[in-house]
Amino acid sequence: MIQSQLMDRIRESFRNEFSRVPEVWADAGGRVNIIGEHTDYHDGFVLPAAIDLRTCAVAAGRDDGILRIHAVDFGGTVEVALDGLKPFDRIDWRSYTCGPFWAWIRSGRPFSGADVAVGGDVPSGGGLSSSASVEVSLVGIAAGLSLSAPPCPDVAAIARTAENLFCRVPCGIMDQMASACGHEGKALLLDCRTLQATLVDVPAGWVLVVADSGVRHSLAGGEYARRQKECADGMSFVVNSFPTVRAARDVSMEMLESVRQGMSEVSFRRLRHAVSENDRTVRAAAALQAGDVAEVGLLMHGSHRSLALDYEVSCAELDRLVEIASRIDGCAGARLTGAGFGGNTVNLVRQDAAVDFCDRLAVEYRGATGIESVVRVVRPASGLLSGRF
Ligand code: GLA
Repeated sequence: MIQSQLMDRIRESFRNEFSRVPEVWADAGGRVNIIGEHTDYHDGFVLPAAIDLRTCAVAAGRDDGILRIHAVDFGGTVEVALDGLKPFDRIDWRSYTCGPFWAWIRSGRPFSGADVAVGGDVPSGGGLSSSASVEVSLVGIAAGLSLSAPPCPDVAAIARTAENLFCRVPCGIMDQMASACGHEGKALLLDCRTLQATLVDVPAGWVLVVADSGVRHSLAGGEYARRQKECADGMSFVVNSFPTVRAARDVSMEMLESVRQGMSEVSFRRLRHAVSENDRTVRAAAALQAGDVAEVGLLMHGSHRSLALDYEVSCAELDRLVEIASRIDGCAGARLTGAGFGGNTVNLVRQDAAVDFCDRLAVEYRGATGIESVVRVVRPASGLLSGRF
């Protein structure tokens, strides 16, 4: 079993809440995305890593069809009957914790009920996939209690079903794949069409730093879905001229330019981001693996610019974090990570400069905005780990 203070805390909460001892545990990563933003739902490439900010869950089985979940960080407990369980009218932590069990059962797998405690240290709404890590850890619990061990892409797919259908968030597969399939010390170049993952090393002597803008976002907020709609509108023109195209991932810049006249200016810019970001991601993975940190940095900056100008998912605070970071010694690249509209930036920083970088970025950002930022090194870590006590 993994030993962690977080796991001890969740275990203790379980005992207090349910007056019994847990039988199984699961531990899943938040994620940082190095590059490849808003490409997953275009069937494209992404380059995330699971990180050492985690969600832990523990549970004991029941055979009466009742599911009780204690959400340690929310201080609340939800109780539902599995028979007749359906998405709630209001989306909150209850949806994110019950949804994975609903999706597990919906996938045709056996489940007879459980008492569960779950909690973690992935900041919520910070663009580091707190919701995916909750979903993946709870799919891990459902698997553990039913004595099965589905391959990690299946775990990710079930977790995504929970988010898409139970929480009504039209996210892609990146977060759940990173959270479920991450590897210690590695990033994953993930093909979101085939779900094939290639492990990529972060070069020795370099670390990933996340900086919190302090601005909170919610994917349910509407802008995320609107970007998908704007892209779909543009894609209808592309497909008219190129009928074999299935997604923006299949489109080249030349193809896009050739149908530019037909579509709205907004759809064109959205698709220009999707096409150019996909290309940057594949190039960045190759550069990272080759240790060409300067090239990765340039691609990260290009990504941020494209997200800010073409996809319009940045905000003044994220732009400010990126701008300050770019001036600090030892920072090769900086960009927003995750959906945008707030949350965190990711920075590729020389290891021996990381402590000073974190301090200076926090101080200068506070000076510029009045916002206290949490700036910290995150380590590429395992995806879903699980077992029995
Ligand atoms: C969120 C979604 C992901 C992905 C990113 C943007 O994190 O959950 O599927 O679309 O935004 O890259």
